[in-house]
Amino acid sequence: MALATQTALAELVCFNQECRTRYAITEVLYNCPKCGGLLEAGYSGDALNPDVLKRMFLERRMSNAPLDQSGVWRYRELFPFLEDYSDVVTLREGNTPLLHAPIAAKYGGLDSLVFKHQGFNPTGSFKDNGMTAGASQAKRLGMKRVACVSTGNTSASMAAYAAAAGMEALIFLPNGKIAFSKLAQALEYGAKTLQVEANFDQILALIRVLAERLGIYLLNSMNPFRVEGQKTIMFEMLDQRDWRVPDWVVLPGGNLGNVSAFGKGLREAKVAGLIDKLPRLAVIQAEGSAPFEEYWKRGGAGEFHAVEKPETLATAIRIGDPVSWPKALHEVRTSGGTVEKVSEQEIADAKAQIGLAGIGCEPASAATLAGIKKMVARGTIDRGADVVAVLTGNVMKDPDYIYKYHTGQLEAPDGSKIASTFGNQAMVVPNDANKIAELLR
Ligand code: F0G
Repeated sequence: MALATQTALAELVCFNQECRTRYAITEVLYNCPKCGGLLEAGYSGDALNPDVLKRMFLERRMSNAPLDQSGVWRYRELFPFLEDYSDVVTLREGNTPLLHAPIAAKYGGLDSLVFKHQGFNPTGSFKDNGMTAGASQAKRLGMKRVACVSTGNTSASMAAYAAAAGMEALIFLPNGKIAFSKLAQALEYGAKTLQVEANFDQILALIRVLAERLGIYLLNSMNPFRVEGQKTIMFEMLDQRDWRVPDWVVLPGGNLGNVSAFGKGLREAKVAGLIDKLPRLAVIQAEGSAPFEEYWKRGGAGEFHAVEKPETLATAIRIGDPVSWPKALHEVRTSGGTVEKVSEQEIADAKAQIGLAGIGCEPASAATLAGIKKMVARGTIDRGADVVAVLTGNVMKDPDYIYKYHTGQLEAPDGSKIASTFGNQAMVVPNDANKIAELLR
């Protein structure tokens, strides 16, 4: 039986199928210098035995070695871009659970539903899976400063990993448009934090210029190494299911890095013989920030139209010009998947239902359940289907939203009221045992 050793050659490859130019894995590039296309990591080398790999991944869960304890680096044979693992920066990310949620399944119209909850990560979101890989590449390249623009989670994650690696973190945020807890995390992890009077898409253009001028390494999701780490979310999910492939994987879409990563990971798992079919990928966007859904509805042909003023209370996915749309389109198509959009009210109510399941998540993550409800009602997803929904962020990421929803104070960006459909208010009671007993009878 072949041993699972690493003999692979890693390169950066242009994702544009007409270009496919290759570059050294150690070049600092975010786009192809030849055609401007997105880049990805590509590997060539001996095929590894899938049964040996599966057994090894399982055995590593009993190991106390930091690399094996990481739910990302445990799968390192499937993204062998590092030559020396002493560069790895890990906070033991990944290791996130699959949670059965009958209450949420019923709400969505399904017989059963499983959440892959990425909010159990060290900084509370799925960004940690990618950031450990991106930060490790930055360290390997000898970078002193790293930067990102973020709707909040990338910045919290980058701040933590930069601090752990001894690098300086520069964070650019759309002023006033991120959840307070995420800003607080960046400050606590010691990041230099700049709030810019512009939206996510405008700031991304700005930091591309600054990165070049100041020699700073960019860790936004178009960074191909972030994608390599993020794809392990699918490996871990499959490993936890003994490599049984679900019918659907449902996830929220903002900058579309995550769906690109999932699609790549799943395709590679199939090529490696770890699975024999692909799950269908369903991407859910918020109505006011849904350029990809609009493009998908038009058949994914012609020009991609950015939304100039994206709006949603799910601030994590308030993005109008997602950089990774060409990759996302390829992955959704290849998987036989689809793209859906949901309203502010639908997100808010779905989120409350995920809370009532004892699980909880941040608003962007709840777009998954809202999308499932819509797709089941329409017949796109069968009620008996095997569905995994990815909850991308922790319930404590946006407490302000939660409090406002439950107290009937939540307003959509256009000023309309969000109904507190499943509201739950705290009661003010007198310090009187008899009266309280009466109330609780
Ligand atoms: N869910 C959450 C909680 C997010 O923070 C994000 C993205 C997404 C979903 C969408 O993922 O961009 O890969 O399609 N947050 C980024 C950030 C943009 O800056 O934290 P995507």
